[in-house]
Amino acid sequence: VWICGDWRKRRTGEPPLVSGLPFIGVTLDYARDPLGLIRDTRKKYGDVFTCKIVRKYFTFITDPFSFSLVVRQSKNLDFQKFAMGFSQRVFGHADFTSPVFSGSYREVHSIFRQTLQGPPLQELAQSMLGNLQAVLGRGLSREHGWVEEGLQNFTNRIMFEAGFLTLFGRDAGLLRSDGVKCGKTCMQKAAQDFLVFDRAFPALAAGVPIGLCMPAWRAREALAEELLHDELHRRNCISDLIQRRMDAFDRMHLDETGKARTHVCMLWASQANTLPAAFWSLYYTLRSAEALAAARSEVHRVLSGQALNDPDRPVSLSREQLDSMTVLESIIEEALRLSSASIMIRVAKDNFTLTLDSGETVAIRKGDFIALYPQLIHLDPDIYPDPTEFKYNRFLDERGERKSNFFKNGRRLKHFLVPFGSGVSECPGRFFAVNEIKEFLTLVLWFYDLELDDINTDLVPDGTRAGLGILPPPRDVLLKYRRRTETAG
Ligand code: HEM
Repeated sequence: VWICGDWRKRRTGEPPLVSGLPFIGVTLDYARDPLGLIRDTRKKYGDVFTCKIVRKYFTFITDPFSFSLVVRQSKNLDFQKFAMGFSQRVFGHADFTSPVFSGSYREVHSIFRQTLQGPPLQELAQSMLGNLQAVLGRGLSREHGWVEEGLQNFTNRIMFEAGFLTLFGRDAGLLRSDGVKCGKTCMQKAAQDFLVFDRAFPALAAGVPIGLCMPAWRAREALAEELLHDELHRRNCISDLIQRRMDAFDRMHLDETGKARTHVCMLWASQANTLPAAFWSLYYTLRSAEALAAARSEVHRVLSGQALNDPDRPVSLSREQLDSMTVLESIIEEALRLSSASIMIRVAKDNFTLTLDSGETVAIRKGDFIALYPQLIHLDPDIYPDPTEFKYNRFLDERGERKSNFFKNGRRLKHFLVPFGSGVSECPGRFFAVNEIKEFLTLVLWFYDLELDDINTDLVPDGTRAGLGILPPPRDVLLKYRRRTETAG
C-alpha cells in the first residue's frame, strides 16, 4: 500500500492514515493552509487522523472535549524532547536534556514559574509600567499636532523596548545625561535584529539550517553579543527571571556564547507573540467605535484624578486596578482568539492506547507526534457565533464581568481559549503578557488621541506563520496620533 509517500501501513486500532504525495505526505498543503487542511481532513476522516508532514507522522486530535485528555497524558506523551530539539537547533544553545546537565534543566525551568507568576508578577508589571512611560515620554512630541506612523511600527517600537528593559534591565549609559542617545540607538539596533531573526523563524521552524539564513544568523549572534553576561553585568534593574537564569547558567559552566544564546531564546519567547498580540489589540480597538468608547471609558474610570502630562507624577496602576480592567482584558482575549495559530505537539514515548472523550480508543505509535490545533476551537462557529468578527465584549457577561462559560453541543468547554497552550507546555509568561498589553493600551489611550488613517481597511492575520503562535498583520497600516491635552479627571 502506497500511503503517505512511504510504506507505512495503518495498523489495527490506529487512526486513519491520510495519503499525500510520495515522501512528503501533506507537507505542501499544510504549509499553504494548515487550518483548511485540518478542517477538510476532519470532514473526511473524523476527529482523529494521522498525516505525514516533513518526514514525521502527526496524529491530530480535533475534538475539543478530548483536548484535556491529551494535555493530561504526560505519562505517555513527552513535550520536552520536541521543544528542546527545536529550540536548540534554532537558537544554538546547549542541549539541557543531556545527562551532563542532569537536574539543572529542571531547575532552570522552575525559574519561569517562580519569577513570572504570583507576587513577582506585581513587580514585573510595575517595572513594565515605568518602562512604557519612559519610552512613551520620549516619544510625546512637544507640539500638539497629529503625528503619523505605521501602527505596527508604533507597537513594536514601544513594546519591544519596554519589554526588553523590563526583563534585561537598563544600560547604565541610559542614566547619563548624554547616554540617552546611545541607549536608544542600541535599542533600535536590537529591535531591528530581533525582527530580522523573527522573520526567518518560519523557515527555521520548517527545518532550514540557520547557516543557510545568513541575515538571521547574523541578527541572532548580534543579539547574543548584547546579552553576554559581561554586558548584562553593566545593566541596572535586571528582572529576577534573568538574574536567576544567569546565576544558574554560571553554575552549569556553559560557555559565554552559549549562555547568551539562551537569553536570546528568552527574549524571543517574551516578544515574538507579545508584539503582534499588542498590535491586534490596538488595531481592533481603533477599528470599532464601540470598543474604543468602552476601552476609553474604562481607562478614564481607573486613571481618574491622575496627571496627564506631568513627568514628575507618572501614571500608577495597582494590581487591583489592572485586574479590574475587564473591558481591556476582553479586547485582548478577543484579539488573541482571532490571531492565534499555535500548534501543540507532544511525542509518544511508547506505543499506547489513547481513550478519547467519546470513549473511542486509538492506538498511538511510539515516536509519532500528537498535535492539537487550538485555532479549530477559536474559529468554531458553534462556540463563537460569527467567529471571524471582532466583538470587544465577547468575553464579558451581562454584568460586564469576565465570561468563562462557552459551550459546544450544549456541553460546557474547559478549553475554549488556548492562545497560551495548556498542560506542561502552558506559557509561564501568560499573566505578564496580558498585563503588559493592558498597560500598553491603558497608557496610549490615556496619553493620545489615536485614529487609523483608513478605518475601512480590514486586515486579516497573515497565515504564513501558522503553527508558530500569534500571527502578524500582513502589512502595516497608517496610524495618526496626537497628545491629549484636556485636563484629566
Ligand atoms: C511558551 C504563547 C508571551 C515566556 C509559550 C507557548 C505558547 C506561548 C503557546 C507554548 C508553546 C508550546 O506548547 O510548545 C504566548 C503568547 C504570548 C506569550 C500568545 C503573548 C501574547 C510570553 C511572555 C513570556 C513568555 C511575555 C515571558 C516573559 C514563555 C516561555 C515559554 C513559553 C519561557 C516556554 C515554556 C516551556 O518551555 O515550558 N508561550 N506567550 N511568553 N512562553 Fe509564552
